Amino acid sequence: MLRRNLELGSLKIREASFKDLFRVVKIERENFSKPWGLGGFVSELVKRDSIFLVVEFEDNVIGYVVTWISFDEAYIANIAVDLNYQGIGVGSRLIDYLLNILKEKGIRRVILEVRLSNFVARRLYEKFGFKVVGIRKNMYHDGEDGLVMEVRFENIVTIKEVCDDGTRDYRETLKEQRGI
Ligand SMILES: CC(C)(COP(=O)(O)OP(=O)(O)OC[C@H]1O[C@@H](n2cnc3c(N)ncnc32)[C@H](O)[C@@H]1OP(=O)(O)O)[C@@H](O)C(=O)NCCC(=O)NCCS
Repeated sequence: MLRRNLELGSLKIREASFKDLFRVVKIERENFSKPWGLGGFVSELVKRDSIFLVVEFEDNVIGYVVTWISFDEAYIANIAVDLNYQGIGVGSRLIDYLLNILKEKGIRRVILEVRLSNFVARRLYEKFGFKVVGIRKNMYHDGEDGLVMEVRFENIVTIKEVCDDGTRDYRETLKEQRGI
C-alpha cells in the first residue's frame, strides 16, 4: 500500500496556490461535516494576514493548514490530512513546520479550537506544547463543546530545535525532550 512506503523526509511543505484547491477541498469534505467551501480557501490565498500551507507527497497534496496572524498572535483556523495518510506523522510535520515559521515571524502565542471528542487532534497539539485554556460551550453545529488550546512560544519545542543533526527520529527526540 502506498502509505507504507511514505518516507516522512520526502514530504514537501510549501505555500498553497490556486491549483492546489481541488485537492484541498476534497480533503476538507472528507474530514469535516461542515466543510469550508472553495470560496473560503480562495480568500485565504489572497489575505495578507493568512498563512496557507500544503503538504505534498509525490506531487500530490495530502494535507493543509490555514493560520491567521494578528499582531503577535496566530490562530490555526483549519488543518486536515488526507484520510489515507493520517496517523503516520504528516500532521505533526505540518504543525512543526508552521510553528517554526511563526516563531521566525516573532509570534508569541498560538491558539486554536478543537472538538472535545477530537482526541487525535488534541494529542497532536499537546505534543507541541498546546494546553487547554478554555471551553466554548455548544460551539459546533451539533452542540459539541470546543476546547480552546494555546501555546506560548517559550513553551514550544520544535523538531528543528531538538533534532539538530537531522539524523534522529523526531518522534523519539520529542518524547525524550518531554520525558514521556
Ligand atoms: C488531526 C489531524 C490533522 C492529525 O494529522 P495526522 O497526520 O493524522 O497526525 P499525526 O500522524 O502526526 O499524529 C499526531 C498524534 O496524534 C495521535 N494519533 C494519531 N493517530 C492516532 C490514532 N489513530 N489514534 C490515537 N492517536 C492518534 C498520536 O499521538 C500522534 O502522535 P505520535 O504518533 O507522535 O504519538 C488529522 O488526523 C486530521 O486531518 N483529522 C481530521 C480533521 C481534524 O480533525 N482537524 C483538526 C481540527 S481541530
